[in-house]
Parts: sequence; structure tokens; C-alpha cells
Amino acid sequence: METKIYDASNIDEAAELLQAGELIAFPTETVYGLGAIASNDEAVKNVYKVKGRPSDNPLIVHVSDREIAEFVAFVPEQAEALMEAFWPGPLTLIFPMKEGVFAPTVTAGHQTVALRMPAQEQTLELIRKTGFPLVGPSANTSGKPSPTTAQHVLHDLSGKIAGILDGGETQIGLESTVLDLTNAAGPVILRPGAITEVQLEPILGKLAGTKQATDGAEAPKAPGMKYQHYAPAQPVILIDGTAADWEAVIEAYCAEGKKIGILASEEKLAVHKEAAAATYSLGLKKEVTTASQRLYAGLRYLDEQPVDVILAEAYDVAGLGKAFMNRLEKAASAKYPKKTNGIIS
Ligand code: TXA
Ligand code: MG
Repeated sequence: METKIYDASNIDEAAELLQAGELIAFPTETVYGLGAIASNDEAVKNVYKVKGRPSDNPLIVHVSDREIAEFVAFVPEQAEALMEAFWPGPLTLIFPMKEGVFAPTVTAGHQTVALRMPAQEQTLELIRKTGFPLVGPSANTSGKPSPTTAQHVLHDLSGKIAGILDGGETQIGLESTVLDLTNAAGPVILRPGAITEVQLEPILGKLAGTKQATDGAEAPKAPGMKYQHYAPAQPVILIDGTAADWEAVIEAYCAEGKKIGILASEEKLAVHKEAAAATYSLGLKKEVTTASQRLYAGLRYLDEQPVDVILAEAYDVAGLGKAFMNRLEKAASAKYPKKTNGIIS
């Protein structure tokens, strides 16, 4: 199958293919999604298949407006205020599921369903023209960094899907915040994203906390968060330390004859780039929005370079930095210096 590139001028054709059960990737403000009409179980099964996605990991359904009553069992009071404040935008809400609305495979056996209205005009148009919501997991091969350009989608899925709606580079670069409104103890963030706790708390009050998806013996609430994610083929070493720490790590790899790739801020690259076989800039250190926008492109770029290891710079875990570090920690296979309370040990 040849994967065709669509733009604003031929959305009608892409919508017809979706209606017929074909897969079309679409841009959002976060990352590209792999679209299928959420009413067709064969089409949805195909999404899992082409991504190589584990079958226990439910999909986000993308809607084109805030009128969602027909798609869920009920709309919790807080959801109205959240949709008013943040939709369209990078906030996914988990609702109680309504039987018989979406194809069974969408929710992977859960009694809940994840909905989001993306802030991308062409994609909203695509959903409207299709006439029904679209599932949209990130349009990458499972385990690889999410795609932030149509070229990234082509790299992973060319020949496996009918088309890609090209909306250029995505603006935020990290997947949406996932907020569970069905938790008995109160709303809980299952995946950090561009909508932060500080933005949610005026509406929700103090949050029950950010759930670590795999802690304890409890079944993971956001199944996707338990898998290693966002990772290139080479080991990624996260460095959260001083210039001396960087030098120690670089020297150790050089002594082993290893070729080094560095993913870091302009400031960090200015000091260490001579030691690297390839580099990718995350922008100025103070701009975590730029770092977030570039993170996946950087991991993908360095993945293609002849390097044996990728050294990546840690950022402060504040605001959007929390989502950035969450993704980088999942991509990383080790952290330096080792911290006993670190996520990676
Ligand atoms: O920004 C985004 O959210 C992107 C764009 C394309 O919209 N989509 C995305 O989808 O990141 P995906 O499938 O890669 O991630 C969905 C996450 C997974 O961690 C999944 O486990 C969780 O949401 N999820 C989906 N349905 C759920 C449910 N009913 N309960 C708990 N978690 C759910
Ligand atoms: Mg994903």
C-alpha cells in the first residue's frame, strides 16, 4: 500500500478512507496520532497491529467538540469546567464508558474511555467530515519516540497505512496530560503533559497526586505508562549533574572507544560538543517549551547517527519540565550520577 500525503485541500478524501475503515495519521498540537474511525473494530484492531501495540493498552478517542454526552455513561461535573477551560487542547479526560458506543477494542477491556479534543483545525475538520470520533494513539511504532512531523510517521509506518494528513511540525511535542475523573479518591493525573497540576488545581482543588502507573501491586491505571517508551535503539544515559559529572561520563565512554551522541541545551553543547560524534540542540536551557518540542525529533535524529550511546541533559522537574523529564526518564536506560531515590537506578 502506498501511503499518501494529504493536506487541507483534500481532507474529504482522507475522511472517506477513514469511513471505509482505512488508517490515516493526523497532526495534533502534541504529537501525530494514528487515526481510525472509533466505531469500526477491524479498523481499530489494525491500529494495534501496525503499531505493534500491546492489546491491553487502550486508545484515546479524539472528538471535534465539547458535546460528548452521547459518547460516555455520564459527564462528571468537573469535566464541564475542564472542557470549557482546556478544550481544544492537550488534556485527555477519562470518563465512565457507555456500552455499545465505540468498537470494543478501543477500551481494551476497561470500563472507562479516554477522550480528547485536539487543538488542530485540520484534524478537527477531518473528524467532522468523517462524522464520528477517531482513535489516535501516537503514530509511531510502539516503543519508539512519538512522531512530531509527518516524516517521522512515514519513517515508522510508510506502506502500512493509507495516508497522513500533514500539518507540519507539532507545536508542543509531548503527549497530552491524561487525567482520570473516575477515581474514587478524586481526580488523578495518569500521565503528565502540557496542562500542569498548577493549571488544573483552580478547577479541581488539590489533586490526589500524580499516580505512578506501575507502583505497588495495583493494576496500572494508564496501562501505556508501564512500557519502556520513547526510546532510540542506542542506550540513552540521562545526566543530572555538574560539568565534572559530564566530563567523567564522556571520558569513561571515550576510554571504551565508544562514539557519543549528545542531546542537550545550547549552553551544554557549547562546552562538550567537541567530544561528540553527533549532537542535537534542545535550545536555550531556560526554554523548556523548546526542549519539549524538540525532544522526540532529537532522539530520532541521534538514533540514525553512527553513535553507540546518547547522553541527554536533565531539566528541572517543574511545570512542563515534569512531562519532559517523565518522557526522557522513560527513554533512558541509566541515570548519572546514580541516585538511590531516582526513578531509574
Ligand atoms: O497527545 C496525545 O495524547 C496523543 C495525540 C495523538 O492525541 N495520543 C497519545 O495516545 O499519546 P497514546 O495511545 O500513545 O497514549 C494514550 C495513553 C496511554 O498511556 C494509555 O494507557 C492511556 O492513555 N489510556 C487510554 N485509555 C485509557 C483508559 N481508559 N484508562 C486509563 N488510561 C488510558
Ligand atoms: Mg504513545
